[in-house]
Amino acid sequence: MAAALHIEPSGQACGATVRGVDLTRPLSADQVAGVRTAWLEHHVLAFPDQAMSDDDLERFTLAFGPFGDDPFIAPIPGRDHIIEIRRNAEETGPLFAENWHSDWSFQATPPAGTCLFGVTIPPHGGDTLFANQHLALEAMPSDLRSRIEGRTAVHSARGGYAPDGFYGLDDQRRGRSMAIRPSDEAMATQLHPLIRAHPETGRLGLFGCVGYIIAVDGLDEEDSRELLTDLVRWQGRDEFVYRHRWEPDMLVMWDNRSVLHRATGGYEGHDRVLHRTTIGARRSS
Ligand code: SIN
Repeated sequence: MAAALHIEPSGQACGATVRGVDLTRPLSADQVAGVRTAWLEHHVLAFPDQAMSDDDLERFTLAFGPFGDDPFIAPIPGRDHIIEIRRNAEETGPLFAENWHSDWSFQATPPAGTCLFGVTIPPHGGDTLFANQHLALEAMPSDLRSRIEGRTAVHSARGGYAPDGFYGLDDQRRGRSMAIRPSDEAMATQLHPLIRAHPETGRLGLFGCVGYIIAVDGLDEEDSRELLTDLVRWQGRDEFVYRHRWEPDMLVMWDNRSVLHRATGGYEGHDRVLHRTTIGARRSS
């Protein structure tokens, strides 16, 4: 019989460390159910000391949903569903994913979650920050909440992945090591409510933020920008944030429906490599 999961909350706004499970082996139905329950409660789970292969990473991902669709970043050789978050020691351009976001929120059915496995972790820096968007909504002052209540956001990848976007052709010329593939397909837009019930728990939260959100439907450009700026300042406040410190052989899974996340720097002169899969939405998520 498998040992019980040991779940240690981070003591911050979300996040927990999970021990007592070996992710290099297939999980039992009970283990999958236990991890899912902990994931829905803590939104970000870290599994240290898991010497996982890419096969293990794919198998773990598929225990929680289908693979999501990863646009604009080529998969690693030999895999259709693993992308590499990489920054080489000598790179000097802007960090990848340094602004708050929910992964691929511009899709019609955005992914439920993301798995990220630490392959090469620098000796310092490179933490990932997560902001709990249930807490951000629940603690929101009424004047800000009244400005977003019932409103719909326009999401798009254009600011990042269009040919003239942040990761577009100019960025490619700077020599980024990640396999980013800008495309005109990034110009598409998709509507999602700013306040959403989590598809599995029903708990209300904020969904997405400025960046992939390019406008608030029904507001002019200036009012949209002002509202989205006020909103993201609130969404990323320290009291909603969990700072995740990486170790090699650590897997992290997060719930894109509950948290925003962003990368941080501070590891100049060191490589940082992580393998990432996307947990697609199930029919009800
Ligand atoms: C990501 O957004 O997937 C990357 C996060 C990180 O590099 O810390």
